[in-house]
Amino acid sequence: MQTVFRGRHFINLEDFTKEEIDTMLEVSMELKRKFAMGEDTPYLTNKTGFLMFFEQSTRTRNSMEAGMAQLGGHAGFLDSSTMQVAHGETAKDTAIILSRFGHMIACRYCNWGRGNAYLNEMARWSSVPIMNLQCDLYHPFQGLADLMTIKEKLPDLRRKKISIIWAYAESHKKPISVPVTQVLLFPRYGMDVWLAYPEGWELPDWVIDQARANAEKHGGTLTITHDEAAAYKDADIVIPKSWGNWVTDQTGATETGASKVIDDALIANKSWKCTEAKMATASKDVMYMHALPADRNNEVEDSVIDGPHSIVYDAAENRLHTAKAVMTLLVGGK
Ligand code: CP
Repeated sequence: MQTVFRGRHFINLEDFTKEEIDTMLEVSMELKRKFAMGEDTPYLTNKTGFLMFFEQSTRTRNSMEAGMAQLGGHAGFLDSSTMQVAHGETAKDTAIILSRFGHMIACRYCNWGRGNAYLNEMARWSSVPIMNLQCDLYHPFQGLADLMTIKEKLPDLRRKKISIIWAYAESHKKPISVPVTQVLLFPRYGMDVWLAYPEGWELPDWVIDQARANAEKHGGTLTITHDEAAAYKDADIVIPKSWGNWVTDQTGATETGASKVIDDALIANKSWKCTEAKMATASKDVMYMHALPADRNNEVEDSVIDGPHSIVYDAAENRLHTAKAVMTLLVGGK
């Protein structure tokens, strides 16, 4: 078990060794057990955290708020549109001031080309941990909860086929941060990771290079394909989820991160939906995952997400336990 976490930032799971991630999962399981037993977990008594959001959230905000309360502390929700950042206050000034008031600053900022840079600028100046609640590149809390859920269901992850599959969505242009986090993380656990997407929805080259290096180091594999059927075939886990085209988003993104959602290139790939027929080609015990919110009946048929192979609610629940573990280790740990 690795024990030196206190004061560190949580921006990217690549900043943590596999042993440290395993410790986070062990603490998550312990906190989950105590939650089920109704045991108190006063590890952050009198501690204050700030939760700063540039974009909407259901799971991330509430897992952190509820988690902080269950750890004995207080989390303050900050809507960036009501902060002086809306008038141009810098990441430096915001980070210095908030870190003098409290014990951690967590932030969601998914705007392409800006979010990760903003978090790193805060980390440069903050005297307390900066936590990434999702940026344009990474969603480490989601990746950790996904991994915890998979490990609960499958005792041995090595050589299990897990397919990260682009899916059609109209609800909004979703950041690439979830698939990037997953494609980097799962090879570290020896899994056979498939990444499937229509042409035009590739992930950046440096992500693929790092994912391949992770696979080589830890005994996993990475297969990239435009053949959706091949990704479903015999898969143990499928994660069909939309992500925006980060190349065109660089020019199309506005200050709020909004860019045109539906265009001809997207519509041409409407068939990339997770259906019962596609699920039937996977392993008989295949598990369906999605970080949520899902664009129902575009990304996935209701009968799949509500069906016996879906583990979306178990994974969403684990957002609470993993959030509590990270806050406990980084804010209250050794
Ligand atoms: N999966 C996830 O991050 O959900 P929210 O956008 O609701 O926080």
